[in-house]
Amino acid sequence: MTIEGRVVLITGAAGGIGRVLCKMFSELGDRVAGIDVVEPLKIHGTAITLQADVTNSEQIEHSIEKVIQTLGPIDVLINNAGAADDTPFEKLTHESWDHDVQLVLRGNYLTQRYIIPHMVKQGKGGSIVNIGSVNGHTYLGSPAYSAAKAGLENLTKALAVRYGPLGIRVNVCAPGTVWSPAWDERVKKHPDINERMKRWYPVGRLGTPEDVSRAVIFLADSKNSFITGTTLYVDGGLLAGNPCLIEDIYSENNDFSI
Ligand SMILES: NC(=O)c1ccc[n+]([C@@H]2O[C@H](COP(=O)([O-])OP(=O)(O)OC[C@H]3O[C@@H](n4cnc5c(N)ncnc54)[C@H](O)[C@@H]3O)[C@@H](O)[C@H]2O)c1
Repeated sequence: MTIEGRVVLITGAAGGIGRVLCKMFSELGDRVAGIDVVEPLKIHGTAITLQADVTNSEQIEHSIEKVIQTLGPIDVLINNAGAADDTPFEKLTHESWDHDVQLVLRGNYLTQRYIIPHMVKQGKGGSIVNIGSVNGHTYLGSPAYSAAKAGLENLTKALAVRYGPLGIRVNVCAPGTVWSPAWDERVKKHPDINERMKRWYPVGRLGTPEDVSRAVIFLADSKNSFITGTTLYVDGGLLAGNPCLIEDIYSENNDFSI
């Protein structure tokens, strides 16, 4: 499948998933704009990179104008910037709560608030993929981040309903654990965390940025025009059931020999 020539804007482009998204969309022939708060921004596959904070209204409005001036109207928006605070609820500071909620909800709101009017004006529709998380569906730690990712699912539905008649589709791609720099701090504390987490995943492994990017490409593809307002979980079966619980209760039944 080759889809050529769309303008695709990706936030959090310098991160583990963001870099692979940029590479894979560019390999399809798309012109990719990457936004991230960090510098320097050397990101393979991007036609333009901009340093901006997704929670900063002026920076985002300016960056979006710059992308449109340079590459043309934006066809696809991937809201990928995000980060989670692991602090338990009773130890959260108001600042760390605000940080996660602002980054996930305000950050996603702002890009969509500025880009959707452009898509409407162009009259060609468009596709938005918001990167959610399994944390938005069930509690798995990081209370502020999880609450915000749950809110993002509802914002996605609101925009899908509102702009569906204009051909603008809005979906969530919600990964389970994906091996990326987001895990660096946790690995420092628990070097065996990868092995321990794998036990919770029915497919027996953690996710990769490529797993997520393939699903995002599917959702962004205008051929899938009947898919909007929904969440595609890319989670190796994590939300389907609990293999560790089953092992504890029924270990004698877990022999696969027939
Ligand atoms: N890695 C996982 O296990 C996992 C699981 C579920 C969901 N996700 C989601 O996937 C997305 C990407 O995560 P990742 O694993 O690649 O993390 P990452 O830490 O590797 O990348 C995140 C990127 O977002 C950027 N960013 C942070 N704050 C920003 C801001 N204010 N403005 C602009 N950019 C900002 C960072 O600089 C970084 O480059 C996030 O939305 C995350 O919540 C990740």
